Amino acid sequence: MAELALDVPDFPQQGILFKDLTPLFASGPDFAATIDAIVAHHGPDSFDVVAGIEARGFMIASAIAYATGVGVVPVRKVGKLPRQTLRATYGLEYGQATLELHTDAFHPGQRVLVVDDVLATGGTAEATLNLIEEAGGVVAGFTVILELAFLEGRKRLKPRSVHALLTV
Ligand code: PRP
Repeated sequence: MAELALDVPDFPQQGILFKDLTPLFASGPDFAATIDAIVAHHGPDSFDVVAGIEARGFMIASAIAYATGVGVVPVRKVGKLPRQTLRATYGLEYGQATLELHTDAFHPGQRVLVVDDVLATGGTAEATLNLIEEAGGVVAGFTVILELAFLEGRKRLKPRSVHALLTV
């Protein structure tokens, strides 16, 4: 079986070992099994909406939303959302980034399952979860396909529920 997660040295910068999940996304049976496993873990009744983090989180979030009959909300890189937004700037393994969320993305108290492909330092996830709570959403859980445990990103997300299908 072909590798579903590829290590790419020195991407996007020297010294970073990038985890490329595009082979997993490109394999129908493996992608379907991944989505099914995430839904089975959280239970389809534990969230009201799914939020996906740009960019690879969009693909996973959309599939979960379709599989469970809920809607999907994008958490985007700065300057991409057209209406009033909340904004958070955070540090990455490499550099800085800013994420935005529409101010009216959620009904008050709506339970949000937050999705991304990889949890590394946790900066992206922490900024996203804070934005979602600021917007009135309740974080039902944060879920990724792959967690890089040695970077200890999970610690930054306490006390929220964090789930990874695979941990290295
Ligand atoms: C990657 C990944 C996560 C984030 C994890 O996204 O998809 O969103 O980094 O890193 P962290 O836990 O250290 O914050 P990236 O910033 O490469 O953006 P992209 O998906 O738009 O390429």
